[in-house]
Amino acid sequence: MTRIAMLGSGFIGRFYADSLQGYRSKDKIVTIYSRRNESAEKFAKDYQVPFATTNMEEAINRPEVDVVCIALPNNLHEEAVMLCCKHKKAVITTKPLGRNAEEAKRMLEAVEKAGIFNGYLEDLVYTPKFLKAHESVKSGALGRILWAKSRETHPGPHSDWFWDLEQAGGGCILDLGCHCVEITRSYIGKDIRPIEVMCWADTQVKPIDAEDHAIALIKYENGAIAQFEVSWTFRGGLDLRDEVMGTEGTIWINSFLRTGFEMFTTGKGADYVAEKAESNTGWLFPVGDELNELGYNHMFADMFDSMEKGIQPKETFYDGYIVNAVLDAAYRSSKSRQWEPVKLDIWRGRTGVTKDSHLIEYDSEHYLVKEEITHYGAKKVILKNKETGKITERVIA
Ligand SMILES: NC(=O)c1ccc[n+]([C@@H]2O[C@H](COP(=O)([O-])OP(=O)(O)OC[C@H]3O[C@@H](n4cnc5c(N)ncnc54)[C@H](O)[C@@H]3O)[C@@H](O)[C@H]2O)c1
Repeated sequence: MTRIAMLGSGFIGRFYADSLQGYRSKDKIVTIYSRRNESAEKFAKDYQVPFATTNMEEAINRPEVDVVCIALPNNLHEEAVMLCCKHKKAVITTKPLGRNAEEAKRMLEAVEKAGIFNGYLEDLVYTPKFLKAHESVKSGALGRILWAKSRETHPGPHSDWFWDLEQAGGGCILDLGCHCVEITRSYIGKDIRPIEVMCWADTQVKPIDAEDHAIALIKYENGAIAQFEVSWTFRGGLDLRDEVMGTEGTIWINSFLRTGFEMFTTGKGADYVAEKAESNTGWLFPVGDELNELGYNHMFADMFDSMEKGIQPKETFYDGYIVNAVLDAAYRSSKSRQWEPVKLDIWRGRTGVTKDSHLIEYDSEHYLVKEEITHYGAKKVILKNKETGKITERVIA
């Protein structure tokens, strides 16, 4: 049994609590910290938490706490992490790790110096669809990965602090781009270094200082390219889609709006449909088991299994730091309108990786460009002469 101190009783704190305690799990939230007493008490009542407080340190520093789960606004992650280091408590924190790479690096260095278990709660690399797709990528079913793309767009977040640049640290690039960067990075290979970023960002709709819409490209050292599309201005719900393309195959995943579950209602008895759904009448796209579809169950299983075994989970503060560094480059690029380098003071992956050859041997004289069976039954190959570079075609059957 893992005993958890939950910091934050809001949107994600409750999703986490539902996942942690909703399935006859052995794990138990034993303390809850919230800013306001009423919220702490309400959460304690809803999840049968024995100790509620408005003092963050008090929630962390209790003997029965094995691990602290940070579910607080972005500007409070560092303070909470430092308290965990002070009291030598294992810590897992929601995304993004920091408001920027500088904060994330301080947190990474502090947990490692304190020698405490650390996990980065990037749920979207634990969704059942992602886990299955990632297995296929790892087994080579898609060949060499060339391009990975991730989109998260919705009509905007649910609490005031997200819209305040100082507290949130950024707009949709930081809030949603963090998911997309880690998804695409995982497909390309977490040991492959992200090199530079080109990003367009704008404030198209909302009366805020941060960006509400952005698109970016991230180049990796092995020649692979990642792409993210994020928005707080998208209408129609929560659009979560990923694509991966390799030399031998392709995967498309739609995690939310088109899951194969379609429903119509006139609205009589209408209720909650799914996260960020904009309507609960007419044709709807419910999600089934949201906690599982969003990866929370697999994520906590990995975190606590790893804690018990004394090993690192799949996602650590180091990953959170890399993500923040990529997003910092995206912000710089959106201002400079140039490719901007990803600045990584800490890098633990491979270095000096070169782009794999794109030349496919056909015979001693030719490279293969393409083979195809036509609608009239001919099997053709298109070849390039190695010496002259001349392109020719042959019908071989
Ligand atoms: N899929 C995900 O992984 C996911 C989804 C949503 C949010 N998040 C992250 O979770 C964190 C919290 O987001 P949320 O959506 O739960 O926010 P929220 O506003 O719903 O809840 C924040 C909670 O933090 C506490 N709090 C303490 N001090 C506060 C302060 N000064 N201002 C506001 N709240 C304060 C309160 O208990 C509050 O309920 C953020 O870092 C966010 O990026 C992650």
